[in-house]
Amino acid sequence: MRFIKLAFTFSVLLYVNTAFAQQKTIAAKVEALLNKMTLDEKVGQLNQYNGDWEATGPVTKDVGNKLDAVKQGKVGSVLNIMGTEHTRKFQQAAMQSRLKIPLLFGQDVIHGYSITFPIPLAEAASWDMPAMERSARVAATEAAAAGINWTFAPMVDIARDPRWGRVMEGAGEDPYLGSLIAGARVKGFQGKGLGNTDAVMACVKHFAAYGAAIGGRDYNSVDMSKRTLWQTYLPPFKAALDAGAATFMNAFNDLNGTPATGSSYLQRDILKGQWGFKGFVVSDWNSIGEMIPHGFVKDNYEAAEVAIKAGSDMDMESRAYINNLAKLVKDGRVPVTLVNDAVRRILTKKFEMGLFDDPYKFINPEREKATMNKPENIEAARDMGRKSIVLLKNEKQLLPLSKELKTIALIGPLSRERWYLKGAWSTDVDPNENVVTIEEGIHNQAPGAKILYAEGCKIKDSVATDFKEAVETAKKADVVIMAVGEDIFMTGEARSKANIHIPGVQEDLIKAVVATGKPVVVLLMAGRPMVFNWTAEHAPAIVYTWWLGSQMGNSVADVLFGNYNPAGKLPMTFPRSEGQIPIYYNFLNTGRPAQGDNDTFYRSSYIDAPNTPQYAFGYGLSYTTFSYTNISISKTAIKKTESLTVSFDLKNTGNTAGEDVAQLYIRDMVAQPLRPVKELKDFKKVMLAPGETKRITFTINKEKLQFYNDNLQLITQPGEFKLMIGAASNQIKLEKTFQLTN
Ligand code: BGC
Repeated sequence: MRFIKLAFTFSVLLYVNTAFAQQKTIAAKVEALLNKMTLDEKVGQLNQYNGDWEATGPVTKDVGNKLDAVKQGKVGSVLNIMGTEHTRKFQQAAMQSRLKIPLLFGQDVIHGYSITFPIPLAEAASWDMPAMERSARVAATEAAAAGINWTFAPMVDIARDPRWGRVMEGAGEDPYLGSLIAGARVKGFQGKGLGNTDAVMACVKHFAAYGAAIGGRDYNSVDMSKRTLWQTYLPPFKAALDAGAATFMNAFNDLNGTPATGSSYLQRDILKGQWGFKGFVVSDWNSIGEMIPHGFVKDNYEAAEVAIKAGSDMDMESRAYINNLAKLVKDGRVPVTLVNDAVRRILTKKFEMGLFDDPYKFINPEREKATMNKPENIEAARDMGRKSIVLLKNEKQLLPLSKELKTIALIGPLSRERWYLKGAWSTDVDPNENVVTIEEGIHNQAPGAKILYAEGCKIKDSVATDFKEAVETAKKADVVIMAVGEDIFMTGEARSKANIHIPGVQEDLIKAVVATGKPVVVLLMAGRPMVFNWTAEHAPAIVYTWWLGSQMGNSVADVLFGNYNPAGKLPMTFPRSEGQIPIYYNFLNTGRPAQGDNDTFYRSSYIDAPNTPQYAFGYGLSYTTFSYTNISISKTAIKKTESLTVSFDLKNTGNTAGEDVAQLYIRDMVAQPLRPVKELKDFKKVMLAPGETKRITFTINKEKLQFYNDNLQLITQPGEFKLMIGAASNQIKLEKTFQLTN
């Protein structure tokens, strides 16, 4: 035993030493190269160009020949170049530059590369870290085989406003869940580490607080206390960093009057200072140049000065660095040491990835061909899809449907849709024919059933001309499935909405079909929480499917026909109206907290809207039911250096095997400054056979009780804490209190 321990210690030491030695040699190589570089070549490394054909932002006009610029050593990285053929062309140009410094190829591989996985917000609803890590792993493996070595993901922006179009790209509203997901995604993208040919660098974005844009309008100002920033918005970034994220991207928004791109507080003080980040920061698309319209600087010369001083290492698409940085150094406005630091950070990553040993390492057409669309990865996408689905309502156990049904009516504009099912930020590498539609998915599961189809209306129709065909079709069927929702252009970047109801007249179509008295299952597809009060009240079954990617039809049908028992839980609060926004579960109590909806002076929201959301954070049903009983706590008082455990029985009280996500919320009853009415602090996703009971235990320690004071110190305060355990933030089943002593 002792020998094993010694051997283990020895091998750990050996590993640490080797890693250290490697870092040392890389550092030496970086220094040697840096010493050979001219100032212009250094600035070239800080410059990132968009590729030739696809643009994910306003196209820069003055470009000239990009390959020539690469040959002249004026470019350190290119984005939006996919596939080994194209990346090779650019890398070959880099190999013709004086110092032959390889390029980095960046791409928004957000939820899959060739195989499209569910949009990130949907995946967040799975609360399943290994599954999300696998999803990112598959994306990385495919992307890395196509010449890409850097993904601009994960987006870890906390978002409390469903009007914001980019909610689809993140993990929702909660810092705890968001932090776990951030870590899982980084691990998935970076796999066993940079240097492996199936690993891409992660880029955590958008640093910081981009998701808190006022009014949910993209790119908008953010105004928040530093305490809120630290408490709610920064934790997922820190978690991503702790998981080893190689790079960060800054953000378009200003934070309290300073554009994030020009913020030394964010990039130098927090990220590179307090957190000790050793990787590099890339700007967002032209975010350095956009400090001009912000009104923060007067021209690109000043923009470059502010950005490099603030810690933005690489300039995506603004040309501010390439056109001004050398002059800024010569003019004595920017010390060359700042440029050197940025170059060092970028070169280090290039060395760590092994690009100097083999610049074509990721560029292998055979591997590219062999890696795409592997059956096991398609299966993983299907599994991720069904894990992401949230069952919102299931009256009289209408679902799951029988596979023996004779006639199914499929109604709605998304029934046969293919491309939209991928959701925004998909790469479109793979032909859309490989996407499984809802109709195909249903047919695959119930091949004997006759599927009657009626479109009913278009997504954006504003006038309900005629639902006759849809109604007649519904009447002929045993059951009706409706596929309705948004289109692919309604979420994503620059796609915020003031009205987040189900678009057009689709809810009228639902009303007309429900009026037939037939059993109706509504599938709601969107990249955000939508508002659908009538449907919530009157449709017998509602399944929130989001956008699930290539396998969407199969994933949805797996749930509809009970091949898979849904277990998804909402990662964001669903409001009843836009007027309730922002609405989130972890709010602070007022001095007159709402008791009900009718007590005049104890109302904390509106006289024309209830206090509660339509669906709460953490909510989601299963085909089975669960009970929470027998709570016990190991101690009723602890010191802050101690921990306690809280345990309870979780039982499957239904007839089907299924998973529940048991959630632990904590409230610090009296604190200064105030603490939220509840905060998610732990959860367990548990599979239970019918009748089975498992005892679940959560551990509570200082990490779960501490919070930021106004001086941004993490503190705990003695006093009473309430532990709340349940199946959603508004379905607390068990409670216990304990005292924290000093
Ligand atoms: C987005 C980033 C993205 C970049 C490159 C920007 O418009 O905000 O998230 O990575 O474009 O496509």
